Amino acid sequence: MKGGLLLKGEVLLKKVGVLLDKGGVLAQGVVLVVGLYLFLKFILPLFTAPLPANLIFLYLTLAVAGIVIFATISGESTEEFFGPIVRFLSGEGQTGSMKIVRLLVLVLFPLLVGWQTYASAVPSDMPPAESRTIHPAPPGEFVGLSNPIPNTPENVMMGKGLFAAFCSPCHGANFDGKGPAARGFDPPPANFVDPGTIAQLQESYLYWRIKKGGVGLPVEGMPWKSAMPRWELELPDEWVWKIIMGEYDGAHQKPRTWE
Ligand code: HEC
Repeated sequence: MKGGLLLKGEVLLKKVGVLLDKGGVLAQGVVLVVGLYLFLKFILPLFTAPLPANLIFLYLTLAVAGIVIFATISGESTEEFFGPIVRFLSGEGQTGSMKIVRLLVLVLFPLLVGWQTYASAVPSDMPPAESRTIHPAPPGEFVGLSNPIPNTPENVMMGKGLFAAFCSPCHGANFDGKGPAARGFDPPPANFVDPGTIAQLQESYLYWRIKKGGVGLPVEGMPWKSAMPRWELELPDEWVWKIIMGEYDGAHQKPRTWE
């Protein structure tokens, strides 16, 4: 039983081999491209992550380019490669069903291209995929912390100095998010003068965001490729609290409190 199956398989492979030999460079090229596609699409994902469609397209384009170069090395192989295509398209000496197939291809191909173009150009009525919470809830250990540093003019001054040193390149010397390094970041550095940012927030929230930065944002804040640095690695807590004071004072805002 098993032997019979194997034998059948062998016969099938031989037949395919004969067909390939007869079909010449063109048939071999087609088999190679289809095989490569099946491999990239179905076999490779068994071992790694699935490939994105445009990467598969790129590989196939490269493979086709390679095959065309190989097939057009000599005049003879060029004829062998393009001959069947040209003969099929020109309809030379075709009869019956072949004629119909040719007509179908000639009609369907422009329709397909037109449909593709239409599908890629038509505006989508789907909501934008990137919906995110701009001010996600901070982790429990940061909730309700209060600033332990007394709000004295000296501390506020020091906070502003630290802000100028560490934060103003992005958030701006005027606290308006227009620092010299701000351009090109998406999302842009927060504008603290705008009533939509720190005026809405508690000091504990700022403490969390400054300490953990963009990498500390929870899932509901994603996708959010924030450039905000994680300052806990560089600044002692006392400095962070002073910076928060200087930030509110400089932006002429007051932290939100639970009155
Ligand atoms: C490399 C540029 C960069 C630097 C330097 C930087 N930030 Fe930011 N910051 C950002 C960006 C971009 C955002 C907006 C995205 C986000 O919320 O993560 C942001 C957001 C924030 C927020 C959140 C505001 C809100 O409305 O949620 C706070 C608070 C903040 N920064 C404080 C600071 C402080 C304080 C410093 C200095 C110690 C600083 N940042 C330094 C880029 C920077």
